[in-house]
Amino acid sequence: MKELDGRVAVITGGASGMGLAFAHRSAAAGMKVAIADIEEPALDAAVDGLREVGADVLGVRCDVADAHSVHALAAAVDDAFGAAHVVCLNAGVALSGPLHEQSLADWQWILGVNLMGIVHGLDAFLPGLVERDEGHVVVTASVAGHTAYPNLGPYSATKHAAVAIAECLHNEQAAAGSQVGVTALCPGFVATGIFDSARNRPEVLADALAEAPSDEEVAAREAFLEMITTEALRPEQVADMVHDAVVSNTFWVFTDARHVDNIGNRHEEIRTRTNPTEGRTITQDALG
Ligand SMILES: NC(=O)c1ccc[n+]([C@@H]2O[C@H](COP(=O)([O-])OP(=O)(O)OC[C@H]3O[C@@H](n4cnc5c(N)ncnc54)[C@H](O)[C@@H]3O)[C@@H](O)[C@H]2O)c1
Repeated sequence: MKELDGRVAVITGGASGMGLAFAHRSAAAGMKVAIADIEEPALDAAVDGLREVGADVLGVRCDVADAHSVHALAAAVDDAFGAAHVVCLNAGVALSGPLHEQSLADWQWILGVNLMGIVHGLDAFLPGLVERDEGHVVVTASVAGHTAYPNLGPYSATKHAAVAIAECLHNEQAAAGSQVGVTALCPGFVATGIFDSARNRPEVLADALAEAPSDEEVAAREAFLEMITTEALRPEQVADMVHDAVVSNTFWVFTDARHVDNIGNRHEEIRTRTNPTEGRTITQDALG
């Protein structure tokens, strides 16, 4: 979409991190902005912050894992602003740990938000975009959607699915000569609230098996968060990349060239039927 001024952006997970940065970037481009999020205090603060900079903003409390909630979002956007133009399916949560320690509740939570959240977003918004033959869908995937690092099994599964959905959608719309564009956003580490995702985990999907972390685990987590604060990209940098991708109708957005090299190595292993490289973690690869 070349012209964004006066158009409508809808952003799930818009109360924090990259979603909030997209909201500010979209508002700066003159768009009306609807942000949807499950975390109400953060949502209210985000709406206030956007109003302070003069944005025309709608905040909707929404659980993307719930189809009814996402359809209610679509109805609220339509009432407030009319048709949506740029739809950012961005809400997401993360957890880490080896697959043999993942509970069914872990899987249900992460699949519900990261995968069904995208499905529900498409179900609610895509038919309108296609019918009007105008708009852009941004799917927030991850470098984890192209890799299989240890301790990220459920998260990677959802992000591989996100990449596949975005790519299928792009290919379908392009083949049909449609004016609906698609971007697959595949960030490396970005300094956001994702590393504290459990704050939004529903009680019904609480992990009854979770044990209190050891001192060693607490220290490792603190070191990791310190690394994120100092090394990771700022969400605003990613928001600029997404804005440019929407305007230029660019499909792939990677935020970090190092990860693209690692993904190339995986593709080479596949091409040469080499067993996957063992042992490297996403943090080691992110730091080079
Ligand atoms: N930060 C990173 O390093 C990184 C890297 C790659 C991909 N991502 C992806 O970026 C996206 C945005 O995350 P972020 O990094 O900005 O983290 P964040 O935690 O700052 O933002 C995620 C937002 O999603 C919301 N959310 C969580 N569950 C929800 C639900 N059920 N319904 C509606 N909203 C819900 C949260 O309240 C939060 O506002 C996610 O899809 C994440 O997987 C993040």
